[in-house]
Amino acid sequence: MASKTELKKLPNAELRIGDKTWEFPVVEGSEGERAIDITKLRAQTGHITLDPGYANSGSCTSAVTFIDGEEGILRYRGIPIETLAEQSSFMEVSYLLIYGKLPSAAELAQFEASIRRHTLLHEDLKRMYSALPKDAHPMAACSTTVGALATFYPDSLDPRDPAQIDISIQRLIAKLPTLAAYAYKHSIGQPFLYPLNSLDYVGNFLRMMFGNPCEEYDVDPVVKKALDLLFILHADHEQNCSTSTVRLVGSSMVNLFGTISAGINALWGPLHGGANQAVIEMLESIAEEGTSARDYLERAKSGDESARLMGFGHRVYKNHDPRARVIKKACDEVLERMGIHSKLLEIAKELEEITLKDDYFVQRKLYPNVDFYSGVIYNAIGTPANMFTAMFAIGRLPGWIAQWKELHQDPSFKIGRPRQIYTGPTNAPYTPIDRR
Ligand code: CMC
Repeated sequence: MASKTELKKLPNAELRIGDKTWEFPVVEGSEGERAIDITKLRAQTGHITLDPGYANSGSCTSAVTFIDGEEGILRYRGIPIETLAEQSSFMEVSYLLIYGKLPSAAELAQFEASIRRHTLLHEDLKRMYSALPKDAHPMAACSTTVGALATFYPDSLDPRDPAQIDISIQRLIAKLPTLAAYAYKHSIGQPFLYPLNSLDYVGNFLRMMFGNPCEEYDVDPVVKKALDLLFILHADHEQNCSTSTVRLVGSSMVNLFGTISAGINALWGPLHGGANQAVIEMLESIAEEGTSARDYLERAKSGDESARLMGFGHRVYKNHDPRARVIKKACDEVLERMGIHSKLLEIAKELEEITLKDDYFVQRKLYPNVDFYSGVIYNAIGTPANMFTAMFAIGRLPGWIAQWKELHQDPSFKIGRPRQIYTGPTNAPYTPIDRR
């Protein structure tokens, strides 16, 4: 496992409140990012910090993923995303994130083999789907069934037992594609396909999603490559909403299944992973209403929240989203090789083109993000919109696991427990119900 670099200590920062002054350590990470260490702030000064949305707060130190939002840099364990996208595979990237180093050929083969062996679901877990409504959102189905894994594997719930952690990791990575594919099959009333372990990770998922028991399913290599790439690009993104959820929930010492179930729910929201579904819905509504891309853009600029330009903007990337660059290229290739020309794609291209020249978007540094293009690819390969975010979750799983492992190995581990500044009534009287 790649170890964390020690934090560099810089001259202290001074904080003055009224006529009192305190000193706090300033630390620097391996990429030169600096932080004021306020661990003792409240104990020493009686004050806390107030930072809604945590835009200025570091919740941990981490050696998993580095992002420089100004420069548009993303690296997993130090390796640029562009290199991994070109030369690696999702299985290898998963190993890299979780175990902190690139695997040898033998290590990778063993990792892949153990994932393949755990793809099957317990028959009782499979039956859980019949209790869900047909129109259940796949993200709700996935978080439910991932949470339910804890009921099937009560022997591997200890987050501090290395053997239990390893088997839980293998089960989760192996079973999430099966769980996601079954959510889809249930929604369209088709039989579930047992995993076919002669296929690789992505091929198996595609067959369980799009195949049926009546005929052979040939995995399209172009689609498989595109999906593997999407999974790589989604695999980790440091302390975003779902990963912070995973760390916070995990800090209560709950098991990995319960933790990842919470992460899946956090990812579901349209401002986070759910944006890929929202992108296609936005493109469809533009097409259906017959409005132009330009009109829609003007509505988005007027602050009309119902016309927010989904797939644009990012809390961290203020130059470009490096994942979007890689994926745009892949997107063009996939559509070209599959010979797809769709109205939605035309609208997407037009939106992208005019937005990149529009003052409003340029000034606010709003660029297409990964979800803008991933939605278009998922759509092109025949995926229903409500499955997009579940596919994002499959990609993000190794990142969540890596961050969860790191949390538990951190010597400064403690339960996450932010504070607040209370603004409600002070010492309010209680009026009995008959006098209200
Ligand atoms: N369309 C129109 N205006 C926007 C958009 C957008 N997509 N994004 C931001 N703005 C405006 C916003 O109204 C604000 O304007 P003003 O300064 O005049 O008030 C300004 O840009 C700053 O926006 P913000 O909401 O303060 O930015 P944020 O960092 O809090 O939000 C965001 C980031 C991703 C939530 C937001 O850009 C957004 O809602 N984008 C659309 C949803 C989306 O694509 N999400 C996927 C993110 S990538 C996948 C992931 O990592 O989860």
